[in-house]
Amino acid sequence: MNILILGSGGREHALAWAVKQNPKTDRLIVAPGNAGIAQLAECADIDILDGSTVVTFCEENAIDFVIIGPEAPLAAGVADATRAAGLLTFGPSAAAARLEASKRFTKEICDACAAPTAAWARFSEAAPAKDYIRRMGAPIVVKADGLAAGKGVIVAMTETEALAAIDDILGGAFGAAGAEVVIEAFMDGEEASLFILTDGTNALPVGTAQDHKRVGDGDTGPNTGGMGAYSPAPVLTPEIEAQAMAEIVLPTIREMARRGTPYSGVLYAGLMIKDGRARLVEYNARFGDPETQVLMMRLGAQALDLMLATAEGRLADARVNWAADHALTVVMAARGYPGAYAKGSVINGLDRMPEDSRHMVFHAGTALKGGLVTANGGRVLAITARGATLEEAHHRAYSMIDLLDWPEGFSRSDIGWRAL
Ligand code: GLY
Repeated sequence: MNILILGSGGREHALAWAVKQNPKTDRLIVAPGNAGIAQLAECADIDILDGSTVVTFCEENAIDFVIIGPEAPLAAGVADATRAAGLLTFGPSAAAARLEASKRFTKEICDACAAPTAAWARFSEAAPAKDYIRRMGAPIVVKADGLAAGKGVIVAMTETEALAAIDDILGGAFGAAGAEVVIEAFMDGEEASLFILTDGTNALPVGTAQDHKRVGDGDTGPNTGGMGAYSPAPVLTPEIEAQAMAEIVLPTIREMARRGTPYSGVLYAGLMIKDGRARLVEYNARFGDPETQVLMMRLGAQALDLMLATAEGRLADARVNWAADHALTVVMAARGYPGAYAKGSVINGLDRMPEDSRHMVFHAGTALKGGLVTANGGRVLAITARGATLEEAHHRAYSMIDLLDWPEGFSRSDIGWRAL
């Protein structure tokens, strides 16, 4: 079959790597892709936020299956456009993707189905929002309602910080995404992610992971999109996973169907775990990045069969064939990230890297210039390894980094520390 994956990051490289291994794949196109993806698939530079452009491209290239990686095309209704054109699609409709695109919507769904989450309130005016913060006190969490490229969540440890976040968000720092603000009680505990495939009715967990959001060792410094991840997440025990499925995920899926907006695709549940119970922090309507890199390393070629079963509404019969393995990925970022960073530095040593079922370098932000791989983003590479233990995966990933010659890049040295 001919398959189109939308996106250009490490997540899409990992999806492409898994899909490519499946014998069902004849032709694989990734739009727009990146320098690493170009080594295993065709890349096409089209506007992936425009549904009619994507549909026309699919028709011209006899695409049988579309996999949508990032949230922006989902929120823009690209899955609606491809489904309306009769194309088999992996990814939720815009109405269902509101579980990521609107924090307020997610909280309303949680209230409607009694899913455990933090107490919350929403405001579109600064004065009542600030009164609420003064009443509740810090720590407190302030969120822009809409999509803000991962920057719209402020975990305020002081009241002053929370009040400033209100001014930022409602003052327009996040554009239309900040027309409303959601304020939530602070939840302490350990955060982990659960990934669930759902066809709107049936649900299949496809792995757990923990990522490292802070830029510096010991989880210090500013927040990033994620500096590394590992799977499975030991804190998400089978008992807690079962509780999260029963009290959070399945009620959400039923509520979405009841409203006439069934959710079909991957549901990424960010969970806070404390005293043996999980509460919902947030949903994302897509796979995580860099969590996908570790999930795909563990799932391999079966990922395509599972995504097809999701899109075709056949998940009731689907199973994951788990190996007793662990995967870990270390993100190499351009110096300066998550602040200002330079693009264009040459990355040497990639040709020395092993690439097999236990080692893989996924490209997150790279470009080919004059035949050389160059840095083209903040997060640039995800050095990923699999092992019988997390220690083995950790050792393999960091041994690969030793082979890299890229002085303009950096990584954390402690990915996996909580579990190790
Ligand atoms: N790693 C966090 C995310 O994908 O949103």
